[in-house]
Amino acid sequence: MLAAARRWRAAGKTIGLVPTMGALHAGHLSLVEHACRENAVVVVSIFVNPIQFGPGEDFERYPRDPKHDAQLLGQAGIDAIYRPAAGVMYPMGAATRVRVVGVSERLEGAARPGHFEGVATVVTKLFAAVQPDRAYFGQKDAQQVAVVRRVAGDLDLGVEIRVAPTIREADGLALSSRNAYLEPAERRSATSLSAALRLATEAYARGERHPQALTDVLRARLEAEPLARVDYAEVVDPATFRPPGLLAVVAVWIGKTRLIDNHDLSQPFPG
Ligand code: PAJ
Repeated sequence: MLAAARRWRAAGKTIGLVPTMGALHAGHLSLVEHACRENAVVVVSIFVNPIQFGPGEDFERYPRDPKHDAQLLGQAGIDAIYRPAAGVMYPMGAATRVRVVGVSERLEGAARPGHFEGVATVVTKLFAAVQPDRAYFGQKDAQQVAVVRRVAGDLDLGVEIRVAPTIREADGLALSSRNAYLEPAERRSATSLSAALRLATEAYARGERHPQALTDVLRARLEAEPLARVDYAEVVDPATFRPPGLLAVVAVWIGKTRLIDNHDLSQPFPG
């Protein structure tokens, strides 16, 4: 991968990277489209990164469909798929981790210890291998965006972090590879995340500015859903993931599936 990247760079071509864990859907493909518009060469990485999953999380059952992924990407006009083996990413003796303090510690970071260290480490390694000018991430994983921005900036990696909006189903559910886990009744309950974000956005638009009142709107809608168990619902700053701020973030268990979503309350909710 690094040899190909060096050749492209020597030829003066800009490189865009879209990091993914595969099981690709329209959310991933929208990142690919953005990358294709802005770069001469586009690389999509597919790597289910073992070190960003905690013990007891869904690493083993995470959906994998390399054939379908290759088919989708074949139609997207990209230049390369980078699919390293786990033993290449983390050979015996590998001992270095990238840890971002502060922004990676609350919410997703608190709920999933070690998760963002795994993300920051793999993203740093992907940047090293692909040498991208720009790397593309989804707003869907807003705290991941904040963590990756810190990594790229703090380590002077010279990669521009580009963020694309969340792609949703017609009923508001944010696309996610984990939606495949949902039983039909759970799938119906899963609309509560976007419904709660929409209600909070409407409350903000009516002039509600009190953080606790906005949080209460989120919680009330989520807790009205019998199959849903709220992990967190907060309104935070998008760079620090602490209050005060206008980014509403929610994490909810629907049965055995944990879903996240977020929305900037100062912007109209789509759809
Ligand atoms: P993955 O969950 O496969 O997501 C890859 C990228 O697609 C992430 O930047 C994510 O935010 C984006 N994405 C997911 N659902 C989206 C949606 N509905 N709309 C727009 N973008 C969406 O995130 C990861 O993989 C990993 O943590 C990774 C960054 C690859 C590091 O292992």
